[in-house]
Amino acid sequence: MASFVVARLQVRALAFAAEVGAGKVPAMASPGFVQRLRARRGGSQDTGVAGEREAPSTSTRSPDSQWFWDHYDMAADQILETFGAEGLSLTDKVVADIGCGDGIMDLGVLHKARPRELVGFDLNPTDTEYLARRAREESVSDSGWDGLRFEVSGPGGVPAPDGTFDFVFSWSAFEHIEQPIPVLREIHRILNPNSAFFLQLWPFYFSAKGSHLWEWLPEDHHHLQRAESEIAEQVLASDRKPPDWTQMMVHEFKHLNRITVDELQRSMLAAGFVVRRLELLASPTRLTPELGRYSWLDLGVSGIKLIATPA
Ligand SMILES: C[S@@+](CC[C@H](N)C(=O)[O-])C[C@H]1O[C@@H](n2cnc3c(N)ncnc32)[C@H](O)[C@@H]1O
Repeated sequence: MASFVVARLQVRALAFAAEVGAGKVPAMASPGFVQRLRARRGGSQDTGVAGEREAPSTSTRSPDSQWFWDHYDMAADQILETFGAEGLSLTDKVVADIGCGDGIMDLGVLHKARPRELVGFDLNPTDTEYLARRAREESVSDSGWDGLRFEVSGPGGVPAPDGTFDFVFSWSAFEHIEQPIPVLREIHRILNPNSAFFLQLWPFYFSAKGSHLWEWLPEDHHHLQRAESEIAEQVLASDRKPPDWTQMMVHEFKHLNRITVDELQRSMLAAGFVVRRLELLASPTRLTPELGRYSWLDLGVSGIKLIATPA
């Protein structure tokens, strides 16, 4: 394992940079590091494609390959199917992805829907060389890249003029976004009046897998029953996964925004959206008496997919 290790995480990029400066975590080796590290994790349920698929994959693909196809195919298909269920097509449209990560999903959306333009925005630069290499390795590179580009956005701002986009989507990013309302307002601002926004969030913090630490601690809701510091310590002491990945995920756990279903609803309203389609994702979960103080909605709803339009 290379010596480079965790850097700024997606949620509190600036705060994290300060921590790096203070020597609390090692510095980032190169742009795109977070995306490459995230991609290397592959092969688990943590693709956000999950929602309904909350059991580890049984695929025989390598973890990298599983990660690629979970995003290129399954996530892209779910985005297009959800828009399609509302009679909306991305073909020839101008589209943005907020929190695009490694961009694999964007490549899938590009090839499947042929938007005129697709811009992936992320706090961290998307490593296009890595994306191109992974596409080549998975034999999807001949399908063309025209119209796809990536831009770095700020924690509360998206660098695009008002009314630029016909459609915006965001996948598995909103539990990481430090300031959800400003970002939702930005999405509202960059959409044109006849546009639509697809939001997927999985997993909600208070749901069974909400800590994002199931690779170390598989018990449902473990993070609601123990102190954060105790969990972090246990995971950091584990040699179950490579140290860079372990440190990054502990940092991520500590900086999840903990938004609930109700808070997301209020945030969408505050940002000026009307929700037109709502899909709550849930699967059976075991409850212990200690969890009695939490709402059933928060404990039991693991994720959400919705389509909203500017009010
Ligand atoms: C869990 S990753 C998901 C990436 C990608 N959508 C996927 O499913 O593979 C969350 C992403 O959100 C990005 N992010 C967090 N806050 C953001 C913000 N305010 N604006 C844009 N991206 C943000 C992070 O940098 C990270 O790449």
